Amino acid sequence: MKIIPKSREAISGTGAVTPSLVKNVTELKKLPVRLKVQFDGSAVYVPENLMDKFVIRGGNPLLGTIRVSGAKNAALPAMAAAILTDETLVLENIPDVRDIQTERNLLVSMGAEVELGYGRAHHRTTISCRSLVNPEAAYELVKTMRASTLVLGPLVARMGRARVSLPGGCAIGARPIDLHIKGLEQLGATIRQEHGYIEASADRLRGGHIAFDKITVTGTEDLMMAAALAQGETLMENCAREPEVVDLAVLLNKMGAKIEGAGTSTIRIKGVSKLGGARHRIIPDRIEAGTFVIAAALTGGDLTITNCDPLHLNALLQKLEECGVTTTTTGDSIRVKNGHRLKAADMSTEEYPGFPTDMQAQYMALATQAEGTSIITENIFENRFMHAQELVRMGANIKVEGSRAIVRGHTPLSGAAVQCSDLRASASLVIAALVAEGETILDRVYHIDRGYERIEEKLRGANGQIRRIGEMLPKRTQVPAGVA
Ligand code: EPZ
Repeated sequence: MKIIPKSREAISGTGAVTPSLVKNVTELKKLPVRLKVQFDGSAVYVPENLMDKFVIRGGNPLLGTIRVSGAKNAALPAMAAAILTDETLVLENIPDVRDIQTERNLLVSMGAEVELGYGRAHHRTTISCRSLVNPEAAYELVKTMRASTLVLGPLVARMGRARVSLPGGCAIGARPIDLHIKGLEQLGATIRQEHGYIEASADRLRGGHIAFDKITVTGTEDLMMAAALAQGETLMENCAREPEVVDLAVLLNKMGAKIEGAGTSTIRIKGVSKLGGARHRIIPDRIEAGTFVIAAALTGGDLTITNCDPLHLNALLQKLEECGVTTTTTGDSIRVKNGHRLKAADMSTEEYPGFPTDMQAQYMALATQAEGTSIITENIFENRFMHAQELVRMGANIKVEGSRAIVRGHTPLSGAAVQCSDLRASASLVIAALVAEGETILDRVYHIDRGYERIEEKLRGANGQIRRIGEMLPKRTQVPAGVA
């Protein structure tokens, strides 16, 4: 078997890359590669799932049960929290999604030992940051996942220094991290910005007063972790109240931190000199659960979403009630049995406990099938309507005016070739395709793999007609001469 050296350059040199793929070199470089053994025994590296697409045939109601995975947006800060201690963290319910792989690679690049426990009971993952040698988050990783910046506070707090790449632009908005930096300075860190990197240092952080100019989820999490090891007390005001922030505070307190008020806009942290190991089960993914609730409502199915926390979805369930969708909840499940026509209802995204921006795209798909006009206002991110034009390609009637989208329903959708642009936009296109007439081909599904664990298998298990197709590579590929 002929093995091609593992380098991205090798990809473009292998001839296995079609001209259209070359066009995506920038995307290509962001993606992990995998070895593909060809029928003639030669082996080439191809991008992990760059080529993957979904083929979805609409028309089936979703029926039965879907089990929700752990929350990506709770798992990422929890894994970063491991930096704060030289003891081992055991985290359960970690979702098997690509962003977790990226976080793992980031921690390993610093010298951590990370064992992702997929398939093991409870998806138990162990992380030890006993011997961190390289307090750096490199651009190569940060540019694939902005949440990598969550290591900034913990590194300065534990190691006294950090070098973290600035995340750069993002499909949904500018998303600066100025509030993370300002907060760290208020805890006594010295910050320099050079060559696209933040260089932060402090002998020991000291308690301070942080009043966020704007509510920021990862900003609250990053500084809560930093303040946990600071000298003295920190008061943080205008904090994010998301369930993921609360879950992180629960973990940190298990590690020996003294944090009060998480879940409210005022958090008090008494710094301690050392944090220990802990075992913690990550909360379920409320956005994944919400995505399936909307899919069930739209397809007119009878679906029970289990292993979720309905209380985390109050704003969504109330809005759906306005649209005529009835749901029944228990402590850890939501049943959606919807047979009647959907009614239009306006919606504005807000910080928690308001309607989550991460559910806006999925709600837009629903609004295309509701009787009447829905005005959707996006208040959190300045460019989060990329899915609108793709839905229009499927026959929807949507007009975007700045931060507002005017959706006129009900307009029948028809299957089409559409393209994912970001994680939640992809989810909205999957949902729309489930009710469209005919077949939809969804391109760039690597966006959805970032935050949904095997979504096509879960939907197929609930009567959805969806399959993943990969490797649209040319039939025969020869390893070009000269490539060792
Ligand atoms: C978190 O992102 C989530 N990501 C996002 O989910 C989610 O959309 C967002 O919160 C809002 O709920 C994770 O938890 C990993 P923010 P985050 O800081 O923390 C501005 C998904 O789909 N801002 O709360 O990056 C910012 O530009 C992702 O899973 C500053 O101006 O969002 C935005 O307009 C997408 N300066 C607003 O605040 C800062 O320093 C809220 O952003 C920080 C933020």
